[in-house]
Amino acid sequence: MAQELPQRGGHGVSTEWAVQATGVGKVFPTAAGEVVALTGVELEVRAGEFVSLIGPSGCGKSTLLRLIADLDDATTGELSIFGKPARRARIDQDYGIAFQQAGLLPWRTVADNIALPLELHKAPKAQRTARVAELAELVGLGDFTDRYPDQLSGGMQQRVAIARALAASPRLLLMDEPFGALDEMTREYLQGELTRIAAETGAAVVFVTHSIPEAVFLSDRVVVMSPRPGRITAVVETGLGEVRDESLRESAAYFEKVTAVREALHGTKVERANER
Ligand SMILES: Nc1ncnc2c1ncn2[C@@H]1O[C@H](COP(=O)(O)OP(=O)(O)OP(=O)(O)O)[C@@H](O)[C@H]1O
Ligand SMILES: [Mg+2]
Repeated sequence: MAQELPQRGGHGVSTEWAVQATGVGKVFPTAAGEVVALTGVELEVRAGEFVSLIGPSGCGKSTLLRLIADLDDATTGELSIFGKPARRARIDQDYGIAFQQAGLLPWRTVADNIALPLELHKAPKAQRTARVAELAELVGLGDFTDRYPDQLSGGMQQRVAIARALAASPRLLLMDEPFGALDEMTREYLQGELTRIAAETGAAVVFVTHSIPEAVFLSDRVVVMSPRPGRITAVVETGLGEVRDESLRESAAYFEKVTAVREALHGTKVERANER
């Protein structure tokens, strides 16, 4: 029998923490000197939790996500993903990623791009085909599965990348401004779908955005970062509950949290300073 892992939270997930970052720092050596992109980052994301990172351009949001995804190494500190080193979690394909650039394989069709994680997981062909059709429909590309990426608009490419990230129903999703290139209506539709999918699958999400309303609508917690050197300056709990529907966008509780994040971002009120 496998040893039982600690359990908490309501999603029936087997580990307590999806992400733990302790004292994480990142320094980039450049010709002009060292760039301190991140310093003293302490971040814990519970299994099944939705956490957004928000902050001005250049504050290190993408860098932090890349460290979690093991696409780069931290200069200082420790990162653990489901209790494993980031490298192990990458090899085990514990997460799906959708980043600022869609990053599609140009020689593969839409369907074959979405199917990629399923192939890596060695899912049977029939199951792959059904899942790809379902995901293409979800992101509104049901009629485009035979197209190649260069035949799609930027927003459509981004939707393929989102479908691909969701394909293997990962227990952690790492998303870097995935909705940035989309029109407002598609964006709001996919925000709703993402919260529904995350709740249904019990996936934790670390989501980078520049949009305060988007961060509040999606998240259990909004982590506010400041530039030079990038660090966490505030954490706002939204407390908006499980249901994220259109009526939420017009509720007083939602507006209150939008204001709280805006104030934290502008430094007028800091809920929790994270000094090191
Ligand atoms: N490979 C690199 N080499 C040198 N400096 C880098 C590198 N990658 C990032 N940086 C620097 O690290 C800092 C953080 O960059 P990062 O891309 O993480 O910011 P960001 O918060 O994602 O910004 P944006 O909102 O514009 O996407 C910036 O000052 C950037 O110039
Ligand atoms: Mg970025």
